[in-house]
Amino acid sequence: MIDFSLRTEHPANTKADAVAVPVHEGQKLSWPAQEIDKASKGALAAALKAASFSGRPGAVLPLFNLPGVAASRVIVYGVGEANALSAKDARTCGRVVALSANEQSIADVAVFPLGEEAVASMSQMVLGVSDACYRFDETKGRAAKAKTETPTLKRVRFGLPESAHKAAPSALKAAVASAHGIEFAKYLGNLPANHCTPARLGDEAKKLTKSHGLKVTVMDRKQIEKLGMGSFLSVTNGSDEPPRFIVMEYMGGKKGQAPTVFVGKGVTFDTGGISLKPAENMDHMKWDMMGAATVFGVMKAVAEIKPKQNIVGLVVACENMPSGKATKPGDVFTSMSGQTIEVLNTDAEGRLILCDALTYAERYKPRAVIDIATLTGACVVALGSVNAGLFATNDQLADAILASGKKTNDRFWRMPLEEDYQEALNSNFADMANVAGREGGAITAACFLWRFAKKYDWAHLDIAGVAYKGAGKEKGATGRPVAALVDYVVGIE
Ligand code: BES
Ligand code: MN
Ligand code: ZN
Repeated sequence: MIDFSLRTEHPANTKADAVAVPVHEGQKLSWPAQEIDKASKGALAAALKAASFSGRPGAVLPLFNLPGVAASRVIVYGVGEANALSAKDARTCGRVVALSANEQSIADVAVFPLGEEAVASMSQMVLGVSDACYRFDETKGRAAKAKTETPTLKRVRFGLPESAHKAAPSALKAAVASAHGIEFAKYLGNLPANHCTPARLGDEAKKLTKSHGLKVTVMDRKQIEKLGMGSFLSVTNGSDEPPRFIVMEYMGGKKGQAPTVFVGKGVTFDTGGISLKPAENMDHMKWDMMGAATVFGVMKAVAEIKPKQNIVGLVVACENMPSGKATKPGDVFTSMSGQTIEVLNTDAEGRLILCDALTYAERYKPRAVIDIATLTGACVVALGSVNAGLFATNDQLADAILASGKKTNDRFWRMPLEEDYQEALNSNFADMANVAGREGGAITAACFLWRFAKKYDWAHLDIAGVAYKGAGKEKGATGRPVAALVDYVVGIE
């Protein structure tokens, strides 16, 4: 884990393995690159010219032994034309600076964000650095593990212009906590399903009691039965892995202050059950617990930031497996709410486990409930992997989440939640069916959940398209939307 902090020296006098400074397109210099150029009597500008440095976001150029500069290395990074960086570009800048530092095998870099909106840029650069230094080798063999080049970068100290000094400490704290939350979510997600079982998720939650002071309750099958979560339990019928219902509480607000409740889908593996999925890419379904992983990441970050808020994380964890005991299409179950559900497709299991958690959430008399789930392939078809689907019963809640998504480039697109879609869920044998037709699949899934979220303001985030990358060198969990939700929590009130 990288140690991030703030520092105050002049860029040219900063002692570190390297100082990193932004340069615009057209090799235009602003603070702090100007300072480096002045101190080096124009050597910086000359080097940029000689290297034909493009200055575009993502461009990076290491320079060495500039006269008049205390650090022997200067990492120049491009910031494009604008005076302030977008969240996306700022993250890229953090990434490339970290990659360059690792390539040079150095440990300690003093990073100077672009002068304007420096605090916001710093926050995104933290996430970029952390992303570039993320490794997952827990399930590699011993020989491969020993060979994994661990990132050499250990310390990043940010130098900010005077005007940013006041806002910087709290922003840095939140950004670093957010990075820790993202790393944790990715770690849990990238573990395979034979490691990351529902019981393991329960254990990981318990660990947060010790390390982060959260109040954690982990319920087993017996306790889940006692709560009457018949819909949740119907999904566990085919699996030999015992389910868990996990409650994490951070109570930093006033006593009696209505909490914000996060609910995460934690299907540690989704085979589809008797409505079995095809073999191709079925391994992706180890990431069907990324909603839960997001809740873990947010709770960890919240416990580090310590806002004056009450925040609750609920995780419903189980496997969806076929077997002689598994739920059969047409089976009817009674949810905790008392509403009955005809399970027409056992692969629509996410809504079956979430609906009971949404009912459980009522006991908190929450100010808002936000569930996060890799819920539908239809959402991936609709929005791809750029935006997650957002459904909400309250415009203010929706707008706040949308704004946090924009700010962190961890984006959402609002989708409709309307009564007219409910009809498709009608059943002749129960209060509702668990699936409608193919049309508007992400919306009808949300409408199913809506029937259990009538007693509070509610938002549903369908992250099926954004939670992981399914192929290529970057195959793995993304940690989305931890950054957006941490920003949302920090901004409440
Ligand atoms: N976990 C899947 C959704 C999913 C699909 C996540 C692709 C990530 C990538 C969910 O449980 C599921 O199987 N949904 C079905 C619902 C259908 C049966 C109505 C789907 O999307 O096909
Ligand atoms: Mn499924
Ligand atoms: Zn699923």
